[in-house]
Amino acid sequence: MNKILFNGIISDDQPIINMEDRGYQFGDGIYEVVGVYHSKLYLLDEHMNRLVQSAEKLNIELPFSIEEMKTQLLELVHLNKLSEGIVYLQVSRGVAPRTHELPTTPITPVVLAYTKTLDDFTELQDNGSTAILQEDIRWLRCDIKSLNLLPNTMAKQKAVEHNAVEAILHRGNVVTEASSSNVCIVKDGEIFTHPANNYILNGITRQRAIELCKHLDIPVHEKAFTVEQLFEADEVFITATKLDVVAINEIDGHTIGTGKPGAISRQLLKAFREDTKNI
Ligand code: PDD
Repeated sequence: MNKILFNGIISDDQPIINMEDRGYQFGDGIYEVVGVYHSKLYLLDEHMNRLVQSAEKLNIELPFSIEEMKTQLLELVHLNKLSEGIVYLQVSRGVAPRTHELPTTPITPVVLAYTKTLDDFTELQDNGSTAILQEDIRWLRCDIKSLNLLPNTMAKQKAVEHNAVEAILHRGNVVTEASSSNVCIVKDGEIFTHPANNYILNGITRQRAIELCKHLDIPVHEKAFTVEQLFEADEVFITATKLDVVAINEIDGHTIGTGKPGAISRQLLKAFREDTKNI
């Protein structure tokens, strides 16, 4: 059985979650999903930095230092002999009698992490997939990687019901991101993606994609685009942990570009495959 990290201790025991854990009652907490490639944690520092930022934005005081948490996660991956998969890390504000307002006396956040193997995404990455469009009904602090994911899960459910890999979200006419990934379009050899503000989660894969594009001399504009621009794009692709780059060939039945992963999506995917090999 896989071991679990709970409040700094790694063991075989299933953690017992207190019914008054604010993460459980209010979704009052934050999380990260870190990709594991050949037993190594990909972009771990970047994920931990984002965890710190999410914690600061919600006034959650992390009970461990970043170095301590990194050591614990590496140990967890080692003990679980995970070669390919993810680490899920969650920090809830902690346990307190249920009131909407924050407890007046300090409480200790509850930290848990576990590892998981995933399906192989090679075929999905090579062939691309389809997506649907959904209105973005989320709150206005999507920059925080919070446990509140109901609009995301509802949108993803709709996508699955349409045999699509993702639900691409739009606020009015502006495309923001997708239910669990960021969205890029390619027009005339240049990439456009929504700027990293409160309307999107600033994906670690998105940020790495922008860096890789710099090396590849592919211009990237962090500039919002419209639903019309999405449909008229030469290429559309999503980025997320472990998916890296997945081309979107069709959205709501409309073919994008040639209906196959385009040259830039393929180039970027190749760059990610190299990057994750050389951690
Ligand atoms: N989700 N946008 C949203 C809303 C997300 O939930 C995610 C990731 C991303 C991509 O972020 P990153 O590149 O850092 O994985 C963008 C994770 C994988 C999840 O919730 O399981």
